[in-house]
Amino acid sequence: MSRALEVAQAADRERTAARLLRSSAEKFYDPDVDVDWSAPPVEGMLYQPEHRISLYGTYLWDRLTPEQRIELSRHEVASVASNGVWFEVILMQLLLKEIYRGDPTTSHVQYALTEIADECRHSIMFGKAIAHFGLPAYGPRKLLHRLGKLLPVVGYGPALYGSVLIVEEVLDRFQREAMADENVQPMIRMVNRIHVLEEARHVTFARQEVASGMPKLTKPELAYQRWLVALVGCQVTHTLINPRVYRSVGLDPHEAYHVAMTSPHYQASLRWAGERIMAFLSDAGLVGAPGMHLWRKSFLVAA
Ligand SMILES: [Fe+2]
Ligand SMILES: [Fe+2]
Repeated sequence: MSRALEVAQAADRERTAARLLRSSAEKFYDPDVDVDWSAPPVEGMLYQPEHRISLYGTYLWDRLTPEQRIELSRHEVASVASNGVWFEVILMQLLLKEIYRGDPTTSHVQYALTEIADECRHSIMFGKAIAHFGLPAYGPRKLLHRLGKLLPVVGYGPALYGSVLIVEEVLDRFQREAMADENVQPMIRMVNRIHVLEEARHVTFARQEVASGMPKLTKPELAYQRWLVALVGCQVTHTLINPRVYRSVGLDPHEAYHVAMTSPHYQASLRWAGERIMAFLSDAGLVGAPGMHLWRKSFLVAA
């Protein structure tokens, strides 16, 4: 990449970061104040739109009573939210790595710090919501939980920000739908609304990092980056629902998880949630060999 292009890109990054800093100062939420934690759950209301529950449309779904469907939606939301905390903790580590080698006088580093502050509040908010409804923080499965520690070590460049975007944009699409759905618990809708608003800035920041990082990659690096981002995409879609959630409605976790992950309806939901980010990553050149097998397994691209 030429020196002139590098300078122009750095100026662009600074302008975007400065704009995001202004927007963060104008509009942000404090979940301690902005969520009414004293409000009890509304009897008979779902915790997510029914058609997004992982077993919807399967033979196991037909066996569940309306009360069990609500109970499953409760536990699935706790699984997604606790995975959200796990992702956010990894993301905070990635951002700290960037800040460690950056210049704190730049808007770029200052925005990275602001994003960490946002994610801190989000993780507290998700933790409080899970506790409020008396649910377990399922999180990812044990092995993945251990492997997650490696991502801040092996991840860098566009694959690192691409990974962040997969999580943020997939969750964003589910949360946008849930926040607008009047059949969903009001507190869950508020939590989703807060998250959607603040994540929009994170998405802008990360997308710019992907775009500016791509031209700097050598050919072997590009292959590694494509593989890594596909691996993360595949893990993300497989971990959102922890199999243990199915015990809450008396189902065998192994069988029910298998039914969900092979359900054309749930796979279509995941693909729908990933539409925007996959179009962006494809345009950026991050989707390709040697990652295609993993992408197909993730259901984020058509098989
Ligand atoms: Fe967040
Ligand atoms: Fe975020």
